Amino acid sequence: MSASEAIVPAGGAEATASGTLAALPQKKNFRQRAHSNPYADHLLEYPTSHTEMNWNEFFPAYFKEDGTPVYPDSDVSSVRFLDVGCGYGGLTVSMSKLYPDRLTLGMEIRVKVSSYVHEKIQALRQHGAAAATPEQLAAGKPTLYQNASVMRANTMKHLTRFFGRGQLEKIFFLFPDPHFKRAKHKWRIISPALLDEYAYVLRPGGIVYTISDVLVLHRWMDSHLEAHPMFERVSEEEIENDPAIYLVKNSSEEAQRVDRNGGRKFLAIFRRIVDPDERNPLPPFTPAVAACTPVEALQIPVTAVEAIEADDEPEPEQE
Ligand SMILES: C[S@@+](CC[C@H](N)C(=O)[O-])C[C@H]1O[C@@H](n2cnc3c(N)ncnc32)[C@H](O)[C@@H]1O
Repeated sequence: MSASEAIVPAGGAEATASGTLAALPQKKNFRQRAHSNPYADHLLEYPTSHTEMNWNEFFPAYFKEDGTPVYPDSDVSSVRFLDVGCGYGGLTVSMSKLYPDRLTLGMEIRVKVSSYVHEKIQALRQHGAAAATPEQLAAGKPTLYQNASVMRANTMKHLTRFFGRGQLEKIFFLFPDPHFKRAKHKWRIISPALLDEYAYVLRPGGIVYTISDVLVLHRWMDSHLEAHPMFERVSEEEIENDPAIYLVKNSSEEAQRVDRNGGRKFLAIFRRIVDPDERNPLPPFTPAVAACTPVEALQIPVTAVEAIEADDEPEPEQE
């Protein structure tokens, strides 16, 4: 399948080294109803298999037009970090800066919101190319934010058609929709059936990060992960030493809204277990190496910051 049939890619035109740099898009131009029904059709299409996915439109610096990786047998030959329900993309772009040796994908169901993230990544890539040193450009390595992308998709449907067994190292669920009403609990992004899928696409040792300001939802996610046989709780010590945690708590637009409102943030972090009975066990990943501090990873170019701050209104909640 060509990726363009189904989704809004963040790839596309290469950044130019000359000319005016784009400011980031403004959220007010991309507003949409707060909640989408994940059971609705949404006119999305899905690849028949993850092997059919052509990632070139999403990561043109890392995949050739025929979809083959530019750096085969490396950690950037496939998507490894997934931001589920990425919203306005704060975590997706900051993780890509923190870990330039990994490809980070945000998946977002809302059309306008995913379009916003697409525009934002395009603008940031231009800034990244302009900020590269002559040595970096001469080395021909992809510049900043080329390793971030967004796809409009419903992650509750056919996730295993996008990602293969054990492909992912980290899956993030940041401030997912709480769906308070009992009749809507089936819309929640963590459930026993979906955890089976997350366990399948995560490599043993891979991490699921969840965070919420809604205590009942946090308890729901925590208890379902605790009860699932393929996940085990990550120790406090490991959480403290994980640079991604700072971004989980601080990078996303919802995290910032919770801060503005003085809310609390509840974390549940679990590891995909190594199953001793697993047939054809996969080799562990080389641990990802942070290229900067998490605080630096949050910083984006000044013109981009101005555009975001000009439109810092929280979205209305609807249910
Ligand atoms: C409350 S927002 C949080 C956004 C972001 N993670 C953050 O922390 O700022 C939840 C997001 O998940 C998206 N979402 C909900 N269900 C989804 C699904 N099945 N697939 C993809 N995205 C989904 C919503 O459209 C919304 O943007």
